[in-house]
Amino acid sequence: MISINQRAVTSEGKILSNRKIGAYHHIIIEIEGIAEGAKPGNFIAISVGGVESNMPLRRIFAIYRSKAQSKYGSIVEIIVAESGKGSAWLTRQIEGSTLYITGPLGTSFPIPADPINVAIIGGGYGAAPLFDLAETLKNKGCRVDALIGAATSAKIFAPLEGKRTVNSITITTEDGSAGKKGRITDVLEDLLKENQIELIYSCGPMGMLKAVHEIAERLSIAHQISVEESMACGIGICMTCVLPIRGDDGIVRMLRSCIDGPVIDGEKLIWSEGIPPETLGRHL
Ligand SMILES: Cc1cc2nc3c(=O)[nH]c(=O)nc-3n(C[C@H](O)[C@H](O)[C@H](O)COP(=O)(O)OP(=O)(O)OC[C@H]3O[C@@H](n4cnc5c(N)ncnc54)[C@H](O)[C@@H]3O)c2cc1C
Ligand code: FES
Repeated sequence: MISINQRAVTSEGKILSNRKIGAYHHIIIEIEGIAEGAKPGNFIAISVGGVESNMPLRRIFAIYRSKAQSKYGSIVEIIVAESGKGSAWLTRQIEGSTLYITGPLGTSFPIPADPINVAIIGGGYGAAPLFDLAETLKNKGCRVDALIGAATSAKIFAPLEGKRTVNSITITTEDGSAGKKGRITDVLEDLLKENQIELIYSCGPMGMLKAVHEIAERLSIAHQISVEESMACGIGICMTCVLPIRGDDGIVRMLRSCIDGPVIDGEKLIWSEGIPPETLGRHL
């Protein structure tokens, strides 16, 4: 059984910068001990609301970038979409504010041993952890094609440095305000075939991941996904984040996506709604 990421620490960080980029906030945090153990795909859990907070649950954010040795010390960067009370509080925090953070948490994207052709596919802020991954893959000699989609241009996350890292970038928006009008899946199949993609990494809403997986499966392309299940604790205690996953022994178990994920082999996830009948313990 997998346990909490062994490299995780809980530490106090300081916001170095909080800038609005389109619909998101790009927050840079100086914090010791997290970047040192972080790998692309890991996430952090942040206490929100301050010391008097009535919000006991930490909020989960993918690590966009991290650097153990920068001119500001050890830093972690996140991209925050304001959705409820916790993320709204976070986006209001100014330079110099203190944050209490646990991380790095969760699994990371597996890196192929050989230089192959890969695609990174991001929906909305789901693109954030994929650019650090792209850099690692490029350093391995992989060709990396990116496909980034969102409802509208303000929700496209495609930073300039990220664009420079990849071999090509295709953008889709549902309203046509940037890139090609439509959804990621409208252009995905052509992109995969043209670039002879051998492995896909994707991160975004579950509906997008499922649609991408159907295409990957039909074309027999390996697919690593990063899921975004609701996570109340992020450290394996509460079981709110369970998903049905088939193990190497063929048995389907409800596993915690905060410690057995968020990065999961798309082949192993059972994509149907609810608890599949064959799940271990389903009829107890
Ligand atoms: C792996 C992962 C990576 C993520 N990365 C990002 C990112 O990079 N950027 C970003 O903006 N967002 C990200 N999110 C989403 C982000 O965690 C949520 O948007 C955030 O928790 C919203 O908090 P809130 O207080 O604003 O919203 P609210 O809706 O007010 O509160 C959400 C809180 O309720 C809890 N909750 C929700 N559903 C349940 C449930 N069924 N049972 C128990 N508790 C529940 C959540 O865990 C959270 O603590 C990520 C989520 C995951 C799981
Ligand atoms: S979020 Fe609590 S067990 Fe996964």
